[in-house]
Amino acid sequence: MPWTRTRQRIGAGDLAVHSLCLLLVCFVAPPVSPITVTSPPELHASRGESVLLVCTFSSTSRPTSRMSVDWSYRPPSGGAPQTFFHFSSKAFPPADGQFQGRVRWQGSPARGEASVTLLNASLADNGTFTCSVRNPPDVHGSPTSHTVLTVTPKVPNSVSNAIHHLTSQTPPPHTHALQDPSL
Ligand SMILES: *[C@@H]1O[C@H](CO)[C@@H](O)[C@H](O)[C@H]1NC(C)=O
Ligand SMILES: *[C@@H]1O[C@H](CO)[C@@H](O)[C@H](O)[C@H]1NC(C)=O
Repeated sequence: MPWTRTRQRIGAGDLAVHSLCLLLVCFVAPPVSPITVTSPPELHASRGESVLLVCTFSSTSRPTSRMSVDWSYRPPSGGAPQTFFHFSSKAFPPADGQFQGRVRWQGSPARGEASVTLLNASLADNGTFTCSVRNPPDVHGSPTSHTVLTVTPKVPNSVSNAIHHLTSQTPPPHTHALQDPSL
């Protein structure tokens, strides 16, 4: 009977929609939405330059006064990351250590910005910089992101030009070697 078949089809369709809703509720929408933090994997700078350590975040919870940011540093030799900067309603720059007086807050919680500028980069600043963002109650997801910074000595223009000149010079042709003394 066509009528029964149509009814069965609608029934199966209803069931599929119902299952999809269950799936969405159970797996796609967790009770607290995730926060994501993004930063470039690598940054390069010359000694003495200012480096913008970029970090952005997105969260479906509107940032409140409880939103906080931590920046930590781990040298290439390893060890535990050391927090050198904290933001929570206001910036708390490092009071001592390697980065004292060299960190400026560039963030804007409302715009999802948590970047800082590192002034006067030195070769000793090589390492991994980690940006962590907390935005209670949104604490799920992966609230950290890492950037590997490499600071290289600045090569003065005169030296770099001299190196370029030396390497681009072609050796003089050895014409004498082609001459046959017996001729
Ligand atoms: C930059 O850092 C170096 C040491 O790495 C220091 O000698 C120099 O005075 C600093 N320059 C400024 C402008 O702070
Ligand atoms: C940092 O890395 C650069 C590039 O590899 C290197 O030239 C420099 O010596 C390193 N600094 C230190 C303190 O190891």
